[in-house]
Amino acid sequence: MAVLTVIIGVVLGVCMLSTALLRWNEMKYRKKGLPPGTMGWPLFGETTDFLKQGPSFMKNQRARYGSVFKSHILGCPTIVSMDPELNRYILMNECKGLLPGYPQSMLEILGKSNIAAVHGPAHKTMRGALLSLVSPTIIRQQILPKIDDFMRSHLSNWTNQVIDIQQKTKEMALLSSLKQISGIESCSLSRTFMPEFFKLVLGTLSLPINLPNTNYHRGLQARKKVVRMLGDLIDERRKSEETHEDMLNLLMNGGDNRYKLRDEEIIDQIITIMYSGYETVSTTSMMAVKYLHDHPRVLEELRKEHLGIRERKRAEDPLDWDDYKSMKFTRAVIFETSRLATIVNGVLRKTMKDMELNGFVIPKGWKIYVYTREINYDPCLYPDPYAFNPWRWLDRSLEAHNYFFIFGGGTRQCPGKELGIAEISTFLHYFVTKYRWEEMGGDKVMKFPRVEAPNGLHIRVSDLYT
Ligand code: HEM
Repeated sequence: MAVLTVIIGVVLGVCMLSTALLRWNEMKYRKKGLPPGTMGWPLFGETTDFLKQGPSFMKNQRARYGSVFKSHILGCPTIVSMDPELNRYILMNECKGLLPGYPQSMLEILGKSNIAAVHGPAHKTMRGALLSLVSPTIIRQQILPKIDDFMRSHLSNWTNQVIDIQQKTKEMALLSSLKQISGIESCSLSRTFMPEFFKLVLGTLSLPINLPNTNYHRGLQARKKVVRMLGDLIDERRKSEETHEDMLNLLMNGGDNRYKLRDEEIIDQIITIMYSGYETVSTTSMMAVKYLHDHPRVLEELRKEHLGIRERKRAEDPLDWDDYKSMKFTRAVIFETSRLATIVNGVLRKTMKDMELNGFVIPKGWKIYVYTREINYDPCLYPDPYAFNPWRWLDRSLEAHNYFFIFGGGTRQCPGKELGIAEISTFLHYFVTKYRWEEMGGDKVMKFPRVEAPNGLHIRVSDLYT
């Protein structure tokens, strides 16, 4: 009896303490003008619910509080906006004090000059420098031949093998961009670079606690090594008489001199290019392989497009700009993959001053999660939204509508959009014209908070014509 009384007492005590803590936290953030919503536990907020329930958490909160609500996720008081009109406004109005709000761990590891850490004139310079590296002319003349050459060799010898397509597309995204940036092939330098880069990426996604054996600490150490390797490369280039046709050469020579960067800025720019294109390109490629496997009719149509291109060329001829531009269905497959899998759930901003948005007052320093995921499943924009239907994108107006946020929007719209599409298209070209494949089965693909296959996505690959 006494034991039972103690247990009941403890349970009641815990309940009362929890209620008091939750109420205290709500009171702490109760400010006039804030949108409705809940703040969860002190310090941790609602992060656990957000990560565990994922999109359902967002949809439940929207059902209770409307399309704009407050929460406390990923360590910060945050306004979540699921309102397409407001999302558009936020993306278009950085100059009104709505700056990127990416976590400290990401900014420290990607460097002071990385594009997400700068704004105003500094952002203009870094962005201008980047855009000049990936203009349509440069993609046509310099980058596409490199991507073609890389994909041919990366995709050779897959016949009669079981491969983890997640691993292969990750290596592909990184090594292909290393080749575009500095002409580095799959050599010893890329073999030392790759593991450090993977540690760097993990570090950006971790809590900024700099203690030995944490991912953050390893990420910071990896950044140091990556910076050293890139610094050495720049020094070697300066000493050598050789000329190079790659992004590093353009960066070192300041393009047309409008965007002359210091060495530290060049290094951060290179890390930014590799980082931004890495997960987006690899995951979209992996998910395209998955969807094509599950939708034979789409695969047939895609293969028809690529075999048609091959028929016009000799086996050794690389893909050229006209081939790439003719890949209408491929582009549609890439958009449909990005939409249905939602490779990017949204983007983060923070307020630089108290601001009025949609009639609410958002305090200075709060994060805004411009959550764009749900727009991808809006039946008004995409009838039968859960079907994988690339044909819908053949109507090019879909790519131009006001709420097309797959590549972001406004002043920070993805500058690597065409480069990313060119890479994935070239990968798909060689993959579907050389091989057929079957999933081994049993692999799970998680859709939230990131799209990933925790144990890999294994496929058995065979020659297309055997
Ligand atoms: C399928 C591939 C890709 C997708 C879905 C994608 C998506 C996005 C999105 C949603 C943003 C907006 C971020 C924000 O507003 O905060 C963005 C920005 C950015 N992307 Fe991409 N991206 C892709 C490929 C690439 C590639 C290949 C590069 C390499 C150059 C790249 C470089 C960047 C950079 C540097 C930014 C920041 C721009 C700025 O802050 O001004 N992306 N991307």
